[in-house]
Amino acid sequence: MTKDELKRAVARAAFEHVESLLENDTIVGVGTGSTANFFIEELGKISHKLNGTVASSDESARRLQEHNIPVFDLNSVGEVSVYVDGADETNDHLQLIKGGGGALTREKIIAAASKEFVCIADDSKLVKTLGKFPLPVEVIPMARSYVARQIVKLGGDPVYRENCVTDNSNHILDIFNLEILDPMKLEYDLNQITGVVANGLFANRRADRLLLGTRAGIKTLTP
Ligand code: A5P
Repeated sequence: MTKDELKRAVARAAFEHVESLLENDTIVGVGTGSTANFFIEELGKISHKLNGTVASSDESARRLQEHNIPVFDLNSVGEVSVYVDGADETNDHLQLIKGGGGALTREKIIAAASKEFVCIADDSKLVKTLGKFPLPVEVIPMARSYVARQIVKLGGDPVYRENCVTDNSNHILDIFNLEILDPMKLEYDLNQITGVVANGLFANRRADRLLLGTRAGIKTLTP
């Protein structure tokens, strides 16, 4: 199976899970990235049955609307029943690195506002220790250099993501060469730096369920 076939398979599994939860008032949170795009395609098949969605990026909102799926502002809905999104890395505690697509802040907000967070990924994303994938940090543009200097003090190697402006009009620093032995602590420490909007560690609010696409089938992991 190709990577895309694995992504499609986990997207379908997530869709089946979401479909089983659907009630009149269900709001579905939808993530960003190539795996989430397969999930959007699946949702498109039942657009008439969906009460509505919230999207973690302008790009995902556009794709949802293309499938005639209603997209709401998070402020106009209550609790999000279930949030489905991909990840750049996951460990077996379901702590994640996200934000390779630059949508980490909205992803974090939707994850926080959701009753259940279902992560979908092919098995290349499962790692023993997080950090091989550069950790994205969204920063207020004028704070970029200051934040980068503070990240160096924490032992990271921050690189400005060129030509990237987030949906929130901010910039991204990608932190290379980290071996993240304590994800909760690093998430906390990065959040203390003035000028950081959000970082891509999802440790404090990790996933509740991981659907992992493997050549032997889909594995479901819980923390
Ligand atoms: C978007 O900002 C990211 O958090 C994505 O969820 C993550 O990069 C996974 O993307 P793929 O599904 O494209 O690998």
